[in-house]
This record gives sequence, C-alpha cells and structure tokens, in this order.
Amino acid sequence: MNLRSLGDVGESKKLWLAGAIDQAVRRVKKIDSGVIDFPHITEQKKWRFTPDGVWTGGFWAGLLWLAYEHDGDKNSLARAIHFTDRLLLRADDTNNHDLGFMFVPSAIKGWQLQGNEEYRLAAMRAARALAGQYNQSAGFIPGWGFFGGEDWSGNVLVDTLMNLPLIVWAVQQGGDPALLEVVRGHTDKNLRHVMRTDGSVYHMFRFSPETGAPIAGDTYQGHGPETTWSRGQAWAIGGLAMLAQMLPDLEYLAASERAAAYFLKHLPDDNVPPWDFQAPAYLPYKDASAGAIAAFGLIKLFDATGKREYLDAAARLLSALAETCANKGEEGGLLLHSTADLPHGLGVDESVMYGDYYYLKALLRLQQRLDQGTL
Ligand code: GLY
Repeated sequence: MNLRSLGDVGESKKLWLAGAIDQAVRRVKKIDSGVIDFPHITEQKKWRFTPDGVWTGGFWAGLLWLAYEHDGDKNSLARAIHFTDRLLLRADDTNNHDLGFMFVPSAIKGWQLQGNEEYRLAAMRAARALAGQYNQSAGFIPGWGFFGGEDWSGNVLVDTLMNLPLIVWAVQQGGDPALLEVVRGHTDKNLRHVMRTDGSVYHMFRFSPETGAPIAGDTYQGHGPETTWSRGQAWAIGGLAMLAQMLPDLEYLAASERAAAYFLKHLPDDNVPPWDFQAPAYLPYKDASAGAIAAFGLIKLFDATGKREYLDAAARLLSALAETCANKGEEGGLLLHSTADLPHGLGVDESVMYGDYYYLKALLRLQQRLDQGTL
C-alpha cells in the first residue's frame, strides 16, 4: 500500500501514524538504555556523545519529554529531568545562537508539563543571552563569534530564525518587550538578504559586522553558495511560521509560505529531501532530518493559515520517512539517512538528534490534528 497521501487512505492513516509514533517512542527508550551523555549524531550507526549537549542537547531532553508525554512512562520523565537539569548550566551562554534549540524542547517543555519554575527562569535567562548576542549597529545575531579558526562575527545562519521563538516566548512571559527589537531586526535582515526571490534561502550570508552592509550569500553545510541546502530551507519554513504565529505577523507568514512552496516544488518523487536541492548526481545523499523539520514547519503553517494542503504535505513527508527512513535495526537513531554536514564529512547518511526530535514532534502534532478531527 502506498501511504504517501493521507487523504487517500481512510482509516489506515491512523494505523501508519500510530505505528510510526510507537516505533519512534520505543527507539527513544532503546537509545536511552545506553546513554550517559547527550547523543549528538551517529557515525557508522553509533552515537557520538557530548557531555554538555553542544547545540543539540535540548533535542535529546526534548525526545524524552515527548516520550513521557506520550505514554506517561516515569522512567522517561526521570531521564527528561536529568538531561534538562544538565542543560540549565548553559542558560547564560553568550556565544551560542542555538539557545532556542537548547531550551525550547527541554526547559520550556518541562515547565509546561511539570510547572518547574527553575526551568522557566532558566529559559528566560537563555532568551536574554540569545538576545544579548544581537549586533545592534549591524542588525543581526551572528552565527558564533569565532568558528573553525575564522572570525564569524559578520556571518548570519538561516538556522537562527528557528531559535528566535525563545525570545518571543520570554517576552510573552513578562520579559523586557525591547527584546522583540532583536527578533524584528534579525528576521527583517533575513527576509531582505538571506531569502532569495524564488523563496529559497542561503544557508549563510556575510555582512559587515560594523555597518551591517550585505557582502554575499554563502554556505557552510550546503553544496555551494548559490545552491539550496535542504535543512536550511526547512529551518526557514519552521522558524518563520513559528514567528508568524507567535507575534503574529503576516509578512513572516507569507515568507514561510514562499519557503514551503520552494521546498515542496523541489522534492523528489520519494518525498525524502536530498541533502541539497542542487546536489550533483555524484553526491546522491538524502537528509531525512530536513524532511522532519519541514513537516513540523508545514504543520505550523497549517495552524496559522488553516490551509489543508500544508497538513497533507506534512503527512506525505512523514509517511515517506516512516516508510523509508525509520530505523528498525539494532543501532542508530529514530531516522536513518540524515546528513549532518556533507562538505566537512560529518554524519553523512546517518542519524542526527535534531532530525529525530522533529520527526517524533511532527508525528505527534499530526496525531493531535487527527484527534481533533482535522483530517
Ligand atoms: N547547525 C544547524 C544544522 O546543522 O542544521
């Protein structure tokens, strides 16, 4: 049976979705049984761990919170608390544009589920630390200050858009409303320069760190400066959709829709994105994580617009991942066939924590919409 179109499959849509969620939650518990530190990405199907969670630790804690929320398993709860507690030390990182990734799936989720005030306060601090990295005169948050032996103070990464909801959340929690200027300034700069006229995005854009004057589009993890790295495109869909909904903002919504249109138009027939939409034939790798993140963003777009086509597209992406990338083997993550960073030879055709997190997150969101009778 071809499960690619939710609309066509009647009752069986519930079965594949329930089965995919079940399998994913079981896999979280299987990974957890061998874990001391934070799983980051796999190499040859074996997890590489980091003691402080680098930029992905929030996704691991987030997976444990999702597993607990799904079935009420007390062990998952204890493990979610354990890993979230360890991340709290990172709340004041001043050289980390990924604080949204670190704190939204972990501390904020934990606070939502458990009412732990310490988590709420840590997330508020993280929001201030992220906003504090804003270069006021240039109008952006740089992607790291110094990275790989190079001064990155003028480099903006499209991924950062997906971190800004942390700041909006903090303002909604009573934080300083002036922090919204950071969100507005950074996002507007992205819309003017990082997003191209056809709705695709650069992975990275170089600006003068002194004046904010644009220099040129570029990439770090994509195939080339002018190609479209699929995960970057997915971060743009999701980040802009979240901001559009939270603020709310119609310009951001339209930009997210343009990014989604590009992503969907360039998907191959199997509905699993290539690692770069213009990847040459001799680099035929997939990035399942881009599909999972895009599915999450498309569900956000459905929520913001009510357009059913976005939910159908998310279901197509997720059922393709469930069919061809969900891991049924002994080792590795929830999804196989993700690509972390092909140009630097990291995690090619492997599992990555962010892909695994957004896969389960999007599956559960889709299930909620189904339960609400949306489908
Ligand atoms: N640095 C974010 C990503 O690899 O997607």
